[in-house]
Amino acid sequence: MDNSNTNTKNNDTIPIALRSFEESEFLHALDAIAQWALSYIKSLQDREVSPAVAPGDILAKLPDTPPVKGEGNNPWTTIVRDLETIIEPGLVHWQSPRFFAYFPCSASMPGIMGEFVSSIFNVNGMLWATSPSATELEMRMMDWSAELFGLPDQFRFDGKNSIGGGCIQGTASEAVLAALLAGRKKQVKRGRDRSTMTVYTSSQAHSSVIKAAMVAGLADTPEDRSRVRLIPVDQSLAMDAKALSQAIDQDIKAGLTPCLVSTTQGTTSTGAMDPLAAIGRDLKTFPDAKRPWLHVDAAWAGAAAVCPEHRYVLDGIKHADSLCINPHKWLLTNFDCDLFWVKDRQALTDSMNITPAYLHDRQSESGEVIDYRNWHVPLGRKMRAIKLWFVIRYFGIDGLRRHIRDHIDLAKVFEKFVISEPRLELATKRSLGLVCFSVMGDNTKTKKLIEQINERKRVMLSHTVVPIANNNGIAQDQWIVRVAIGSTGVAPKDINELINEVHAALNEVIQ
Ligand SMILES: Cc1ncc(COP(=O)(O)O)c(C=O)c1O
Repeated sequence: MDNSNTNTKNNDTIPIALRSFEESEFLHALDAIAQWALSYIKSLQDREVSPAVAPGDILAKLPDTPPVKGEGNNPWTTIVRDLETIIEPGLVHWQSPRFFAYFPCSASMPGIMGEFVSSIFNVNGMLWATSPSATELEMRMMDWSAELFGLPDQFRFDGKNSIGGGCIQGTASEAVLAALLAGRKKQVKRGRDRSTMTVYTSSQAHSSVIKAAMVAGLADTPEDRSRVRLIPVDQSLAMDAKALSQAIDQDIKAGLTPCLVSTTQGTTSTGAMDPLAAIGRDLKTFPDAKRPWLHVDAAWAGAAAVCPEHRYVLDGIKHADSLCINPHKWLLTNFDCDLFWVKDRQALTDSMNITPAYLHDRQSESGEVIDYRNWHVPLGRKMRAIKLWFVIRYFGIDGLRRHIRDHIDLAKVFEKFVISEPRLELATKRSLGLVCFSVMGDNTKTKKLIEQINERKRVMLSHTVVPIANNNGIAQDQWIVRVAIGSTGVAPKDINELINEVHAALNEVIQ
């Protein structure tokens, strides 16, 4: 038998995908992308923040059909050129230091390296057995993060007598869905009818709470949507704890089943903090079997709890059944990374545990391991914990605290400007790095101001509309400009530029 062909290491016997990892190709690709990345990141200092493109402009630059033949050993020169000429012109530069629009999507070098390493391993950590390192690194990172934010022991895997722990979800929306499923399952196990379930959140909560109810089949139709009780807010736009208690009490008396309360610590619109401690205490007055699951959405503001002086954002967290914080928003960890903790992990996994024959395994059945597949909707999961590990190791607790404190200091500078400018008013109290303001007078001027500023593209801001009480105590919808300070490279000079831009636009709007 002639074996010569099977032993020959020529190009035809090397799998096509493996050829791309040949040392020269791999290093060349790394070098080309690294050079491009450095020049892109550097260019952010001077670029306009948002693109000047019309719908279809990017599509028009992309070939209609995929290439039949690969572009050869070295496509990187043309790929980098296309990144620069096709993709970059159509981006909103979220990493620009003058991006103040939505809550940030903060990135960092160690975060990028973590994404990169995770892609190299490219394991699927659905079960402990499918990559023990993936699961155990994630468990440790959840415990490290619990320490970082000063969470009670019950949320930790290694807490004394703890039956809790956490996992990394993609987003806060997935976290609230998981909390809802867990809360509902608890009630179903108590014999409650699924059709009687109700959900509570404030009228200022993120839309992801309603979306979770829709996905869970509680709010599919417009009529059903009222099963998500939007609890009124007080003057600070935080949930009215008393109104919440009353609503739950009424619903229980009417034979309904409150299954989830979701508070927000740092609302999307204005950074308002729901009175978690009071809500938690009030919920304790309901009998155990009737008490809904208490979820805390601290997607953005939770990051500030790395600083002891800002831990107030999580005051009352001991009452919660679950909590989420997104390091991908304000803690230098590349998208996506939502930390989701529960006090009772079995209550969560009960709601999503489905084990077909092909997923049975010895370690799972021993009960000694965590199988993260039961902690969220997807089965497969990437190794997100690596980027968090790199970020925490690179910056340390001190570095992360400095990052948050620097941003809050910058927000104070901008807040001072708003207070000193007679044509502007603070719409709500500054919340951490978020400053909300309006033009004195009417909504049209505020709308115009935002348009002017964003059209100039030197900075990018966003707006919201919230009910603000007037001098007679009557709430009226007010247009507000949101300035969210939190992008990775924001520095004092960027705040100066922001102030100049607001000034220039104000002069246009109010002549
Ligand atoms: C308070 C709050 N909760 C939830 C979300 C939704 O975040 P995600 O994109 O992680 O689902 C946001 C988004 O900004 C938010 O501000």
